[in-house]
Amino acid sequence: MSNALKDYLDFCQNRVETALEARLPSDIILPQKLHLAMRYTVLDGGKRMRPMLTYGTGLTLGIAPEALDGPACAVEFIHVYSLIHDDLPAMDDDDLRRGKATCHVAFDEATAILTGDALQALAFETLANDPSITASAEGRLKMITVLAKASGSQGMVGGQAIDLDSVGTCLTLPELENMHIHKTGALIRASVNMATLAKADIDPNIAKKLDNYAKCIGLSFQVKDDILDEESDTETLGKTQGKDKDNNKPTYPALLGMAGAKQKAQELHEQALDNLSVFGGEADLLRDLSLYIIQRDH
Ligand code: IPE
Ligand code: IPE
Ligand code: MG
Ligand code: MG
Ligand code: MG
Repeated sequence: MSNALKDYLDFCQNRVETALEARLPSDIILPQKLHLAMRYTVLDGGKRMRPMLTYGTGLTLGIAPEALDGPACAVEFIHVYSLIHDDLPAMDDDDLRRGKATCHVAFDEATAILTGDALQALAFETLANDPSITASAEGRLKMITVLAKASGSQGMVGGQAIDLDSVGTCLTLPELENMHIHKTGALIRASVNMATLAKADIDPNIAKKLDNYAKCIGLSFQVKDDILDEESDTETLGKTQGKDKDNNKPTYPALLGMAGAKQKAQELHEQALDNLSVFGGEADLLRDLSLYIIQRDH
């Protein structure tokens, strides 16, 4: 990654941290425990991949980061809510997330459920109201629709339902792909597509190319997550290594073998790059993010 891109990423990382902090209720406001849990789970952690994709798509299309703080925060709020619920005893039953105790361990189960609920509501309040969003009312409404669909029963939550129903079963490759596209791919796709909606006069062919790029990296992201669950270690991951096997989850390495899973991730990266061939250097950050997704160590 070039120094200029690295600087841009650092700038966006700081930008989203400040933007998230500003949109979270203070923990001196009642109910304090709930607000404390919201701040505990959202702040100081995570790779912020989804916001980076929103800002990176903006960079490609010439949209200023200032206009994307709202969607960047909204998708991160939904993502954190999904992680809090994913870690609950009724789901993956994890006690470590982002190097800290999971929400239900640090607080309690009821608070973890409510924290997820509140973050989901905050995501949509942000899209509906955020003054940083300069898109037209129609553009704003489309962003809300994109994020709602990506979050719901035909998006992330649907994927999580398939995941839980698949425990201990042997999925076919198309079934596994369908699960991953929903549970992880949908929000990653929304991260990119909300940025394209910020540009009113976007060429539909360009929007389609970016959507196809997002589909590829959405899947490669979960393929790599499965690989890391098997190959990495708890300290590097900031979450407990080996949980997929413990929980009897169908994964890419389980179905294709480790070499097959890595090859799949590489192929998806190449397909992602193919979809960016219509762009010049303005899409280099998106190219680098795709590579980062399959090369990351956590
Ligand atoms: C983990 O997502 C859960 C998946 C959808 C695979 P991330 O790997 O983006 O987690 P954080 O945000 O960096 O903690
Ligand atoms: C989680 O997939 C996907 C969502 C949270 C929607 P995983 O269960 O594999 O995520 P980790 O490994 O716990 O982060
Ligand atoms: Mg899970
Ligand atoms: Mg999990
Ligand atoms: Mg995982």
